[in-house]
Amino acid sequence: MSRYSIFFFVFFSQLIITSPYTLVGRSGHTASYMDNKIYFLGGGTKIYRDGTNDFFYLDVSKPFNLDSTLPIVDLSNDARQIYPHENGVSTICGPNKDTIYLICRASMSYSYRFINNKEWVPGTIFAPEWSSTVCNKNGSYIYTYGSYRYDVKKHAMYMMSITDTTSWNSGLSDLDITNNLGLSILLPDERIAYIGEIIDDFMVFNFNFRNTYIYDTNYGTWENMSTSGIEPSPRISYTAVLTQDGLIIIYGGINDDSPVPDQISVLDTKVNPFTWSIPNIDPAPSSVPFSGHTATLVENYMIIAFGSYHSNTTHDDVFSDQIHMIDVSEKNNYKWVKSFTPSITKTAYPTKSAIIGGTTGGGDTPIRDYMGGLTPGDLQSLKNKRIMFMDQLTSSDGYHLLTWKKLRDKTYPTPKATYPNLFKRLEDSYILSNHRRLIIPINQDDEHLDRTTKSPYCH
Ligand SMILES: *[C@@H]1O[C@H](CO)[C@@H](O)[C@H](O)[C@H]1NC(C)=O
Ligand SMILES: *[C@@H]1O[C@H](CO)[C@@H](O)[C@H](O)[C@H]1NC(C)=O
Ligand SMILES: *[C@@H]1O[C@H](CO)[C@@H](O)[C@H](O)[C@H]1NC(C)=O
Repeated sequence: MSRYSIFFFVFFSQLIITSPYTLVGRSGHTASYMDNKIYFLGGGTKIYRDGTNDFFYLDVSKPFNLDSTLPIVDLSNDARQIYPHENGVSTICGPNKDTIYLICRASMSYSYRFINNKEWVPGTIFAPEWSSTVCNKNGSYIYTYGSYRYDVKKHAMYMMSITDTTSWNSGLSDLDITNNLGLSILLPDERIAYIGEIIDDFMVFNFNFRNTYIYDTNYGTWENMSTSGIEPSPRISYTAVLTQDGLIIIYGGINDDSPVPDQISVLDTKVNPFTWSIPNIDPAPSSVPFSGHTATLVENYMIIAFGSYHSNTTHDDVFSDQIHMIDVSEKNNYKWVKSFTPSITKTAYPTKSAIIGGTTGGGDTPIRDYMGGLTPGDLQSLKNKRIMFMDQLTSSDGYHLLTWKKLRDKTYPTPKATYPNLFKRLEDSYILSNHRRLIIPINQDDEHLDRTTKSPYCH
């Protein structure tokens, strides 16, 4: 009798571990590392470009090989109440660091808490626009640097106590940081380092890496540090992880839709000032993503999941359904590896980065219908520039407003075409600050519009 029980027990656990979950290519998901599992949530897929509520984890308590079936467990049924989303951010918080907090954005923002492997519960409705979010050491506060939609020019540090997740309080700043900031990393001394600062370079918004702003959660004070070394090239959609020896590794990113040439850089936070360098690494597999991925450090493995990569057969950017790994155990001699072998000790440094593009066809949306309130002068200016439709101003999928530089290069051979007022109005009021994403994308079918207006819809 007891023999049978043992047999069934073993059989059952094997079933769970190897149960085939078909990974689909995705981008703009979140990854949260907790309790020897990396929880993946949301992200856009080829079919659901504006987001999913797929929820599954990768079990990193045991060895696995990227060429075999991965130890993935599907939990999607537990996350059905979460609105489909992409480009959310997540952090692990709570006194026991056992709760995933997700913030995903909409016409209204929304946050959810995933409590201890059980259920998702909604939290605060309004959240500032973010690039990332981070929890303090004792798990009592979540910090997000950003701005509210109604006041996009005013960035501030927002804090939410995990005992009252119905509101965000903005911290007073002793430093007038006018630009938005990039990914946040909690350093062991409880300072938060912001990796990247949005700088507007002739209407191309990218994160730059010369200055690092550091917020001390102990004192509520800011520091503006000018880093030294080889500054990474400007980009969006990169990831950052912190190693146990105080190195922040940034990976991937795009600049004006193209992968950056310097895909990996390291910031040493043990020296003053923090210093950038480029580590040695063997050539990357051709399928590695460059944007919309996540990176999670598990021991000495940087686990890079999904995201967009350039297919060398179709010459298209496609969503990856794969996981890649870099072994970072040897400082300055990183290796792409396929087998994962955990030791006994575990540390958690989850991170996340954002933003993707995509393509679908679509009809024409007249600018005068989209914006309203156009003056005769605006209409004349549009006419002179032969612009009539929103479709002329956006990425082909209708989600992102082109930069003026791109639009001008595309449409006007004369480089002197003036930057129209109306374009500025679109940039000020119709897009999300960091990613040029239209608050209301064009080319949406009725079903989409329904979902956007009815539900707090995360992007
Ligand atoms: C946790 O840290 C915050 C500051 O980061 C502090 O205000 C709070 O009192 C701490 N809570 C506990 C329980 O230690
Ligand atoms: C931070 O320092 C840099 C120069 O090192 C300066 O250009 C920048 O304006 C400073 N930022 C703030 C918010 O003071
Ligand atoms: C295309 O990618 C595959 C692996 O994904 C690689 O083996 C092959 O060499 C690549 N081809 C070219 C032309 O780069």
